[in-house]
Amino acid sequence: MTAQLIDGKLIAQQVRDEVAATVAKRTAAGKMKPTLATVLVGDRPDSAAYVASKGKACQELGMGSISEHLPASATQEEVEALVKRLNADKTVSGILVQLPMPSNINEERVLSLINIEKDVDGFSPLNIGRLAQKGREPLFVPCTPYGCIYLLEKSGVKIEGANAVVLGRSNIVGMPAALLLIGKNATVTVCHSRTKDLPGTVRQADIIIAAIGKIEMVRGDWIKPGAAIIDVGINAVPDATKKSGQRLVGDVNFAEAKEVAGFITPVPGGVGPMTIAMLMKNTLRAAEIQDP
Ligand code: GUN
Repeated sequence: MTAQLIDGKLIAQQVRDEVAATVAKRTAAGKMKPTLATVLVGDRPDSAAYVASKGKACQELGMGSISEHLPASATQEEVEALVKRLNADKTVSGILVQLPMPSNINEERVLSLINIEKDVDGFSPLNIGRLAQKGREPLFVPCTPYGCIYLLEKSGVKIEGANAVVLGRSNIVGMPAALLLIGKNATVTVCHSRTKDLPGTVRQADIIIAAIGKIEMVRGDWIKPGAAIIDVGINAVPDATKKSGQRLVGDVNFAEAKEVAGFITPVPGGVGPMTIAMLMKNTLRAAEIQDP
């Protein structure tokens, strides 16, 4: 192995410790307790598990958490009424609407309703718009891309002037990650399903952010020697040797990539733990904005 492993679990724990220390200080000073309200619509087991782990993290860090759950049959009006109620609730610092929502719900309209000062996911059009514009700052940066950039910076990877390739253009990861990299003066290429010569394009990259959800698609011979790889993929593959019958792998073929790359995140234990850590950081920031 030539690559340096980027330990997301360790770095996420450091972020959580810093947040917990600040939360304790704020609470002792009688300030607003950072409190996250999560909204889950429907019964997707993965979404239910994500929301539960976000609530658990709040408790572990001394923060408040409120979990709202509406049935899959909920109407647009019901979801919007819930967001409006949480906007008006002075004990709620941050609102997270778990995505995806059932197909009958207009996500864009729901996300637009979230008060910008409580938009800890950073998905409201105002926050994303500010992220996309030069000289403007969003109040909150979306948690997974924020975690990716944090890992690069903590590992000493130079972003300014680097050629960065982002695989995937989702609203949740790929697109905001590309905007963040541009803001840090990287030269950014965003690849997607219609990109011609994906391996050739990735081979130009000093930094690769892989967020396409395709099992081990990025191969060792796609990687420029010394490149930094942030693997956002979380894909389950069958594995008879595991009790659960499966194991998690990324979008990058780790065994091949670690022999070529300069830095690499493992799956699990890379980007995964960072998403919740950055959400906790954003929720603290929301409380600091609302009660400085
Ligand atoms: N679904 C998958 N990732 C995320 C996330 O970061 N935030 C929300 N709200 N939903 C998601």
